[in-house]
Amino acid sequence: MATIEVVLGDITREDVDVIVTAANESLLGGGGVDGAVHRAAGPRLARAGGAIGPCPPGEAMPTSAFDLDPPVWHVIHTVGPVWEGGGHGEDEVLASCYRRSLQVADELGARTVAFPAIATGVYGFPAERAARIAVGTLRSTPTNVHRVRLVAFDDDTREHLHAALTATAD
Ligand code: APR
Repeated sequence: MATIEVVLGDITREDVDVIVTAANESLLGGGGVDGAVHRAAGPRLARAGGAIGPCPPGEAMPTSAFDLDPPVWHVIHTVGPVWEGGGHGEDEVLASCYRRSLQVADELGARTVAFPAIATGVYGFPAERAARIAVGTLRSTPTNVHRVRLVAFDDDTREHLHAALTATAD
């Protein structure tokens, strides 16, 4: 099982083997964290994403990381659920984003992975509920990944992630 840590920062500055981006199904880039990752990686990321997309919600697909610096090996594109009130399987799709991204990172031989707070921005997923799902899923997914960094972009998100992590500590 991986060690999980919560940090406040910009995922495009993470010095890890693989970063995960919260994409849309086209994998052509967008706003939010996906926009930041595409800006940092350069235009080849959208071309690579377009070549393998579309990506269904809950799935995870890797590409090269191109111009990202620090030079991570891969970007894993995952598509979160659009929040519709909680009665449309959103929890399961979000859990799948974390599970499949960790599995893909494992398949790539990554030892360290950074995740954003998937679906909690434009897609409107409540941050506290998302934090519990993220930590619970990462804790229950067998992996050879040593370290997972949950990268919050604001204090509220960091507090929700930290609370979820400490609430489920051994
Ligand atoms: N580093 C880390 N986290 C970030 C960064 C960054 N540079 N920029 C934004 N975030 C955070 C947001 O504050 C939010 O907590 O990432 C989280 C996810 O928010 P979004 O990026 O809006 O992603 P999501 O809610 O999954 O919506 C995805 O938005 O940008 C479009 O193309 C994307 O259509 C897709 C949708």
